Amino acid sequence: MPLEQATVHVEDRGFQFADGVYEAIRTYGGKPFALDEHLARLNRSLEGIKLTPPLSVAQWTEIVYEAIRRGGFAETVVYIQVTRGVAPRHRRFPKNAQPTVVMTVRECPPASDAPLEHTARIITVDDFRWSLCHLKTVALLASVLAYQQAKEAGADDAVFVEPDGTVMESTAGNLFVIKDGKVKTPPLGNKLLAGITREKFIEAARSLGIPCAEAPVTRNELFAADEVCLTSTTVELMPVIEIDGRPIGNGKAGPVTAAMFHQFHKLYAGV
Ligand SMILES: Cc1ncc(COP(=O)(O)O)c(C=O)c1O
Repeated sequence: MPLEQATVHVEDRGFQFADGVYEAIRTYGGKPFALDEHLARLNRSLEGIKLTPPLSVAQWTEIVYEAIRRGGFAETVVYIQVTRGVAPRHRRFPKNAQPTVVMTVRECPPASDAPLEHTARIITVDDFRWSLCHLKTVALLASVLAYQQAKEAGADDAVFVEPDGTVMESTAGNLFVIKDGKVKTPPLGNKLLAGITREKFIEAARSLGIPCAEAPVTRNELFAADEVCLTSTTVELMPVIEIDGRPIGNGKAGPVTAAMFHQFHKLYAGV
């Protein structure tokens, strides 16, 4: 149905408590990219908030394909949200509520013909999120506030730094640093999301013979890096050219970033 006709109940627990999880999936060549991985992560997120999956993987797959077909776009971004449903406002889990399932489809803007020319300036912020960042929940207020802080500082995004000085991820993407031809990305844990794109870029780097470690990255290493970039489903890869006002590299995407980007497209995006 048209978006303006879709409504959610005021007592939906997603609205009242951010009691829900989500996924965002994109298509390449009209086909959902890494759908199995996204659905597996959706199930992990549901399990993490103790919500029984309302649909099986086969059912999700069917309606994702159907939604893409009905949207009729050249390339699509499919957004799925599942909440614990509608119930009188109380913290305890409702006994008989049906999960609310929302799926939207939007046109995915065509990949730019000069994608690596879009670059980002970022700031570092203390990680004031919680310890369930590995679940893709709709509780995104900390992410919203950090993003706004970045914008107000004249930057494009923020990366979260732990009390021990290690860096986790940006508000909506995973982080890669490159030093002396070697790639590093923070290891999985409860302070970052296991990005599907992160996984694919690790594979892309390794398939080129570029060493790629999943190991802690400190804030100081960011400033000393030759190249830094962020990855996510819709953005793919964003070269970072400035962090907290200090330049990274020479103001454009570096050679390893570019190689990884082209390999990613060759392997997965059919370009
Ligand atoms: C906090 C966070 N980290 C990382 C990512 C990247 O995940 P993916 O590559 O699966 O889109 C996202 C995506 O929205 C995110 O919100």
